[in-house]
Amino acid sequence: MNSSNNPRILITAGPTYERIDPVRFIGNYSSGKMGAALVQECLNRGMEVELVLGPVSRDFTFTHSERLNITNIESAQQMYEACQRIYPQMDAAILCAAVADFTPAEVSDRKIKRKGDELVIHLRPTQDIAASLGKIKTEHQVLSGFALETNDEQQNATDKMRRKRFDFIVLNSLNDEGAGFRHDTNKITIITEEGQREYPLKSKTECAVDIVDVLVEKLLKTR
Ligand code: C5P
Repeated sequence: MNSSNNPRILITAGPTYERIDPVRFIGNYSSGKMGAALVQECLNRGMEVELVLGPVSRDFTFTHSERLNITNIESAQQMYEACQRIYPQMDAAILCAAVADFTPAEVSDRKIKRKGDELVIHLRPTQDIAASLGKIKTEHQVLSGFALETNDEQQNATDKMRRKRFDFIVLNSLNDEGAGFRHDTNKITIITEEGQREYPLKSKTECAVDIVDVLVEKLLKTR
């Protein structure tokens, strides 16, 4: 815990962009809205927030932003480096970003021209930021993240929580109407080693309250 005694929290949010050439990238539909709601809820509770934010298409505004520091990144590698640097000083992290799992093996320094019948882009895996923070996590730190699943949701999310050494995982399903990417609402299940709790469809602002409630409970246990 830092000298001001306010918990310090790292939040990752938004997509990552993986460059193919100077004008093209591989990205995803993450809007950053769930992450922004979490940032605001943590600020509302007096926490100090380090937001590592991927390229989002809108400007978020926050109240109490004197306790917020934003690091803007583009690629999974940049997000990884920022998180490695920031997490050791934190009491907790919520990893909400939709990080690319693969990135082009080579980036062309010129715009790729149309030629031939097909174009093959070789991809290599990115660093798993969550797992890397799980490895350096101390007993005084909380680590949590999200799982977006399409099948065997609860089992996959529980496995992911253990693999990444999360204290809890927030499951949202692509099968639920109004949940997930770009929506203003989300339908979440919070899974811990003690059990799981399903919440009804709510605004992302309200989901953030439920998530930060669980985070605070876990933070109290680390003291
Ligand atoms: O494995 P999957 O991408 O579904 O895991 C989701 C969780 O892991 C999220 O919390 C996400 O932010 C995090 N993650 C990460 N680094 C990656 C991939 C996912 O931190 N390379």
